Amino acid sequence: MPQFVKAAKTDEIQPDTCLGVKVEGVFVGIYNIDGQYYAMNNICPHLGGMLSYGFLEDNLITCPLHMWEFDVKNGKCVWPENERLPTYPVKVEGGDILVDVDSPQLAE
Ligand code: FES
Repeated sequence: MPQFVKAAKTDEIQPDTCLGVKVEGVFVGIYNIDGQYYAMNNICPHLGGMLSYGFLEDNLITCPLHMWEFDVKNGKCVWPENERLPTYPVKVEGGDILVDVDSPQLAE
C-alpha cells in the first residue's frame, strides 16, 4: 500500500533545481525537471555525498564530492556505470509534493 507523505511544496523547487529533504528518516533529493518532479535517494553510494548539493544539468546530478553522475529519473549511475540508487514514486496534490519512500524502485 503506497504511503505518500508530504515532502515539499512545489514553489520550493523551481524548474531545473532540486531540494534535499528527509522523509520518514530517508534522505531524498526531489528534482524538478521540466516541470515534472522526481525523487531519488540523496546519499551517494560512493562515500556518502549529499547529491542535492551537486550540479544538476538536464536530468543528471553530479555528486559534489567526487563527481559520480546519476540520472535522477531512474537512479542509474552514468559514471561510473553499474551503480544505482533507489527512486521513489512522487505525486503532486495542490501545491504539495508527496513522496512514497516505502516503495523504492531500482532500475534494471
Ligand atoms: S561521495 Fe559521491 S562521488 Fe564520492
